[in-house]
Amino acid sequence: MKTKTEFVDITPHRSIMLKLGQSGYSISEALAELIDNSIDASIPDKKLSIDISVSSNKIVISDNGSGMPKDVASKVLKLGFSTKEKEAKLGKFGLGLKTSCLSLGKSFVIKTSPLNSGEEFTVSFDEDEWINSGDWSRHPMSISEGIPKNVSYSRITINNIIVKFDNKELEKLADEFGLRFGPFIESDSVEILINKKFCKPALPKLTSHGKKDFEIKLSTGWVLKGWFGFKLAGSVKEYYGFNTFRRGRLITTYDKIGLSKDPKAKQIVGEIYMDHVPVSHNKRNWIIQSEEYKIVSNELTKFLRDYDVRQKKIVSGFPAHPGRVEGIARVLFLGARTNAKDLERIKPGDILVTSMTRPQYLLQIRRAGAIVTDMGGMLCHAAIVSREFNIPCIVGTQNGMQKIKDGQKIIVDANEGVVYEAE
Ligand SMILES: Nc1ncnc2c1ncn2[C@@H]1O[C@H](COP(=O)(O)OP(=O)(O)O)[C@@H](O)[C@H]1O
Ligand SMILES: [Mg+2]
Repeated sequence: MKTKTEFVDITPHRSIMLKLGQSGYSISEALAELIDNSIDASIPDKKLSIDISVSSNKIVISDNGSGMPKDVASKVLKLGFSTKEKEAKLGKFGLGLKTSCLSLGKSFVIKTSPLNSGEEFTVSFDEDEWINSGDWSRHPMSISEGIPKNVSYSRITINNIIVKFDNKELEKLADEFGLRFGPFIESDSVEILINKKFCKPALPKLTSHGKKDFEIKLSTGWVLKGWFGFKLAGSVKEYYGFNTFRRGRLITTYDKIGLSKDPKAKQIVGEIYMDHVPVSHNKRNWIIQSEEYKIVSNELTKFLRDYDVRQKKIVSGFPAHPGRVEGIARVLFLGARTNAKDLERIKPGDILVTSMTRPQYLLQIRRAGAIVTDMGGMLCHAAIVSREFNIPCIVGTQNGMQKIKDGQKIIVDANEGVVYEAE
């Protein structure tokens, strides 16, 4: 058999650029990605200010970060171009800016000026122009002179807006960013304004376990300090993990250090002070290859695993709908003749412990923070209702009604299917 090699041209088709805008980013995801970029560009020891203005025909996001040097500005539209290290926490794929802008509008302009340059670089992108005449190798960048040397900034203006939103959604954005970027805002290293209003920092709500302080003596003699708690069910899913600090400075947010892949770990939030672990030059990432980091990570994993074992188990069953909640147990038999007064005892957030739920009591059952039943399998009424209303649920405990006391404070871990005594 004879084989030969021919060379084929695999330069991407121009339309790939436009397809990025169809990645399904919501307005909040797209803006968050641009905020990530600004935060990545923050200057050490200088408060970063991110100013976002949103209207139905234009979105502008500006920051007083490092700005882009000429060689970066000239490549910023390049797909896959990134100046960030491999272990960078926020950006790294070199697609975020393009994807976000094109998810929001059909054209955008980037203006940026790095410190001490005296120059401003402008690159823009317009879908219609691009598809008709765009050229990967000859894209224009304009350079303006006479910019004050003591400032640096990046400003992205997105035009021909394709997303729809109303005032209510804008307010929700501010709340979402308050949570997502809360640790940065709270540590006073970043401020975010949306239509001239500051995003207020918010942190996930904790169960009544509250904050548990810990001190772990590491094999090397260092003491690792911090606290952790469990997130209240219903508090936003993505935001879990540790905010990590080095000498009082916030390094990473919602860091998954020490947390296993176990769904249970997704309820943990806290802070860790890792003064002795080295960080990258921009102080935004831990050097995860370092011996110090590995030690902290391993010992924390061990500590959290042991902590969970120490909790006192009451009963277990089949997890029908996940979540971890703490609340007051309401042990109640739901029969055909259960009276209304008894049902009124189920207050919002209480944990309904019963033999089996019944469709006619749906209204009361919906108020429960979690459901635990003696009987039933994955297809029983309780299991279906809990999925429908997103209520953590354990079924088939067999003797839950007998073992759990009415009025007792319990933790329902419906990720694992275990009911614990609350401390
Ligand atoms: N606001 C900004 N300030 C300074 N540089 C930026 C900013 N936004 C983007 N950049 C630069 O553009 C590059 C590409 O951005 P992006 O497409 O979001 O990819 P990534 O964030 O994954 O690197 C970044 O690596 C960074 O160098
Ligand atoms: Mg990015």
